Amino acid sequence: MNENKKPTLEICLTPDAVSFIDLTGKIAVIVDIFRATSCMVAGLACGVTHVVPVANVDDALSYKSEGYVTAGERNGEKVEGFDIGNSPFEHMEQEFKKIVMTTTNGTQAIEAVKNTAEQVVIAAFLNLKAVTNYLKAQNKDVVIVCAGWKGRFNAEDSLFAGALALKLKGDFWWEGDETLFATHSYSSVKNNLSKMLKHSSHYKRLKEHGVENDMDFCLEIDKFKNVPILKDDVLVNS
Ligand code: MLT
Repeated sequence: MNENKKPTLEICLTPDAVSFIDLTGKIAVIVDIFRATSCMVAGLACGVTHVVPVANVDDALSYKSEGYVTAGERNGEKVEGFDIGNSPFEHMEQEFKKIVMTTTNGTQAIEAVKNTAEQVVIAAFLNLKAVTNYLKAQNKDVVIVCAGWKGRFNAEDSLFAGALALKLKGDFWWEGDETLFATHSYSSVKNNLSKMLKHSSHYKRLKEHGVENDMDFCLEIDKFKNVPILKDDVLVNS
């Protein structure tokens, strides 16, 4: 914690930049708005009890014999042989209790921080207020990690990081130009967020697969009150 006695807040705009930040003793907040962290929040809000995030397809398939539903995508498309893809509507199916999930970016971002961060928290617009309240109560330094796209920046995760930083303003000591940039960016587009994001690269990529409803859903704010956290490599509600 810094000399002002407030915990610090930093934003990592790409998962590859995580290697420049010491996560020891800090909370890593993972963000993949389209669509991995939105799926995790939605599923766990609607009856899923366990989500195991894994880096690769073979790891996911190895959970099948333990009764897990295999979920995820590569390049936005359902993985061949998996039970479900990466639509929040699929993750909210009532009969699914345990899900193992691998995605192009979201689960990779979790992988990148899980051994160094003190805690891993999952955030999306769907649980913005709940995550805000949770982080305020922890009183620990926070790093918001944007999953981006294949190691690169994306608009939706960065704008969400700005939204969350603004919610935490006053309780946290903002650090880094990323926080300045993301908060100003979010403030300038928040009233036209979904219109602006229709021009983003991943929106266009997913539109090709006809899943505009997924994106509309992922931009709903405060639909759920749960905060998924990683416990022993399993995401559960806090
Ligand atoms: C990811 O983790 O890369 C994404 O969630 C991709 C997607 O399904 O839209």
